[in-house]
Amino acid sequence: MLSSILALSTFLLVLSIINNVASQTSSPNSSKRGIAYLGTSTAQDYNIFTSKSSPLKWYYNWSPYPVGNPRSFRNLEFVPLIHNLDSLSNDLSQLSNLPSTSTHLLTFNEPDGSTSGGGSNISPSDAAAAYIHSIAPLSRSNGGKFLISHPSTTGTLSGLNWLRSFNTSCYALNRTHGCPIDFIATHFYGDFPALASWLGTLNEYYNTNQSANLPMWVTELALPQQSAAATEVMMNTTLPFLDGLNYVERYAWFGIFREGNANGWTGGGVALLDNQGDLSELGASYMGGGYRAGMSAQNEDGAVGAADKMRMSTGLISAMAMARLVMELIM
Ligand SMILES: *[C@@H]1O[C@H](CO)[C@@H](O)[C@H](O)[C@H]1NC(C)=O
Ligand SMILES: *[C@@H]1O[C@H](CO)[C@@H](O)[C@H](O)[C@H]1NC(C)=O
Ligand SMILES: *[C@@H]1O[C@H](CO)[C@@H](O)[C@H](O)[C@H]1NC(C)=O
Ligand SMILES: *[C@@H]1O[C@H](CO)[C@@H](O)[C@H](O)[C@H]1NC(C)=O
Ligand SMILES: *[C@@H]1O[C@H](CO)[C@@H](O)[C@H](O)[C@H]1NC(C)=O
Repeated sequence: MLSSILALSTFLLVLSIINNVASQTSSPNSSKRGIAYLGTSTAQDYNIFTSKSSPLKWYYNWSPYPVGNPRSFRNLEFVPLIHNLDSLSNDLSQLSNLPSTSTHLLTFNEPDGSTSGGGSNISPSDAAAAYIHSIAPLSRSNGGKFLISHPSTTGTLSGLNWLRSFNTSCYALNRTHGCPIDFIATHFYGDFPALASWLGTLNEYYNTNQSANLPMWVTELALPQQSAAATEVMMNTTLPFLDGLNYVERYAWFGIFREGNANGWTGGGVALLDNQGDLSELGASYMGGGYRAGMSAQNEDGAVGAADKMRMSTGLISAMAMARLVMELIM
C-alpha cells in the first residue's frame, strides 16, 4: 500500500516535471510569434497554426479584413493593416467593424518599395499628409482605439532614408507632434548578422536617439533564396534572439505557404509547409517544441488536430515509460 502511494506520488511528480520541461522547450516567448497570412495555401493547411493549442498568438494579412475561412483564425488576435492610399476611406470604415481584441494598427506596407513587389510606392510627403489626416486620430494618444505603427519600410538603407524624409514631412505639417507613433514596424530579409544590425539601426533611430522606448514588430522576416537547411540554421539563431530582445514585441516569419507556392524572389526555402500542406522542417522549428516535420491538422475549426493528438500521445508514452522505470526502481 505504502509503496503504491509512493509510486503514485512519484508518478505525479514525474508527470509534472515532464510537463515543465515540455513547456520550457516549446518556444521561450512564443507570445511574440505570429502569422503573416498570404492565403495562397489550401484553407485546411492553416489549422495547425491556428488551433487552440498552437503557440502562435496573432496574425495579419496586409488588410483590415480578417480571414473568414478557416474559421479557426478566430482563435488568434487579428491585426489590421492599411496597405496603401488606394481605398483609404473604405479601409478606415472597415476598422470600426473589428472586435476590441484588435488593439494594434499597422500602416502603409513598404512605401519605399514598388507595387509589383508588394510595396505601396508612396512618397514620404503623401504618406505624411494621409497619416496626419487619417491615421493619427486613430491613435489612443489622440483618443482613438488603436496603438498605431509608422509605415513598415523594407529593411534597407533606402527604407531608413524614406523614414527620415517621412519624419521631415510630418514635422512640416505638425510642428509639435509630427506623425504620432505607438510602435515601430519593419521587414527584414537576409542573414542573421544583417538582421541584428538592421534592428539595431532602427532602434537607434527611433529609441536611443529620441530617448524613447517604442516596441518593435518585425512583420516580415526570412532568409531568401537559400536552401531549406541554411534557412533553418538562420531561423534557429534568429528566433531565440528575437524572443530575448526586450524591444521586440512581435514578429512573423514569411511565410506560411506550400514550398511550391513561394514567390520567385524568396524561393521555396522559406516555406513553413511542404507540398502536401504538412509542416516542413522549418515549419516545425517555427512552431517549437513537440511539433515535427510532416505533421498536419486537416480538421476543421481548430479542434484538437492530428498533430495535437500525436504530441499528447508522445508525451503520455514517455511519461508512462518514465513512471514504469520509477516503479521498477522503488519496488
Ligand atoms: C499636432 O498633432 C497632435 C497629436 O497628433 C494634435 O493633438 C494637434 O492638434 C496637432 N496640431 C496641429 C496644428 O494640427
Ligand atoms: C543617432 O544619432 C547619432 C548622433 O547624432 C547619429 O550619428 C546617428 O546617425 C543616429 N542614428 C540613426 C540611425 O539615425
Ligand atoms: C523628426 O524630426 C523632428 C523635428 O526635426 C526631430 O526633432 C526628431 O528627432 C525626428 N525624429 C526622428 C525619429 O528622427
Ligand atoms: C513575452 O513577451 C511578451 C510580449 O512582449 C511580454 O509581455 C512578456 O513579458 C514576455 N515574457 C517573457 C517570459 O519574457
Ligand atoms: C532547429 O531547431 C529545431 C528545434 O526547435 C531542431 O529540431 C532542429 O534540429 C534545428 N535545426 C538546425 C538545423 O539546427
